[in-house]
Amino acid sequence: MVKVSILGLGVYLPSKRLTNFDLEKMVDTSDEWIRSRTGIVERRVASPHEKTSDLAHKAALQALKNAKISAEKIDLIVVATASPDSSFPSVACKVQKAIGAKKATGFDVSAACAGFLYALTTAKQYIQTGMAHHALVIAAERFTDLIDWTDRDTCVLFGDGAGACVLGKAKSGHITADFLQAFGDQWDLMQVISEGGRSPFHPEKTACAKLPYVRMQGQELFKMAVNSMADAIEKVIKKAKIKKENIDCIVPHQANDRIMSAVAKKLNISKDKIFINIDKYGNMSAASIAVALYEAVESKKIKKGDNVVLVAFGAGLVSAANVVKW
Ligand code: ACO
Repeated sequence: MVKVSILGLGVYLPSKRLTNFDLEKMVDTSDEWIRSRTGIVERRVASPHEKTSDLAHKAALQALKNAKISAEKIDLIVVATASPDSSFPSVACKVQKAIGAKKATGFDVSAACAGFLYALTTAKQYIQTGMAHHALVIAAERFTDLIDWTDRDTCVLFGDGAGACVLGKAKSGHITADFLQAFGDQWDLMQVISEGGRSPFHPEKTACAKLPYVRMQGQELFKMAVNSMADAIEKVIKKAKIKKENIDCIVPHQANDRIMSAVAKKLNISKDKIFINIDKYGNMSAASIAVALYEAVESKKIKKGDNVVLVAFGAGLVSAANVVKW
């Protein structure tokens, strides 16, 4: 079996910072509440001219540079996003044009906050089967467009950003195990609600038209997040044939600092092994793990030879995990 590794990573974070103090002026909330309940201090917001595909493009360029691979060598682009520029064309096709990856094919995947790991696992299979040699995997979100900015339950949690990686045949280290699971019976715990419509056959929907917005059942999601991420870690390390004690670093989806503490406690793993950057960016949906992985490597929290576990859950509901021998 061909071994597949991450050859280079990249990120792009919009420059505008939205702090908890800024949010205090917008809804009935406080820095103290947001910090203590979530761990978030600030998040990034894309500028009006920065679409999801622009964030994806910039992260992709850095990943290509770090992988020392030209865009012409990319034959597959998979973009994870819950906030594409539009339902079509795909963000992947826009990135293909922007970087000049002439011989690539590309498509988007939808798995909300677990999207980066779904995209990574999908692209890995393409390389293992020989359908692709070099894949660009991108997670990009302009999630602030999906938020109802009058709803304090959700507007304090999310931010915009993008992360990317180049996959290819292993040079050193490789992705040793994957785990994906869906819990469709709980789809209604988190959803984007579209109340309006423009069909002339349902004029009553047009009358109540409102831009789509995120609604979630926070407490139920919290429990599900802890249980599904702990379970995904146990299952993926079993597949990778490693023990909990052999995990060097866990890079989880960054939804809430308390979720990460609860996962560590449930698995009896030191929280020091969990990489956390939610304070700086909030929840960037699919982009969270991609950005956290980049920062964990840059800050030497992840070193060559380490056993790294990536783990996520998201709307769907879905969960996912990978083990990467770095
Ligand atoms: N500021 C101040 N008070 C608030 C805020 C706010 N921003 N939001 C809610 N409150 C209030 C509530 O109204 C409630 O008040 P009450 O007691 O008078 O009714 C009180 O704070 C407690 O609310 P809870 O919902 O019980 O707060 P909780 O401790 O559960 O924290 C949170 C809420 C942060 C949303 C938490 O439940 C959570 O993180 N859940 C997981 C969410 C998640 O992971 N979502 C992403 C899914 S991933 C994806 O696919 C994108």
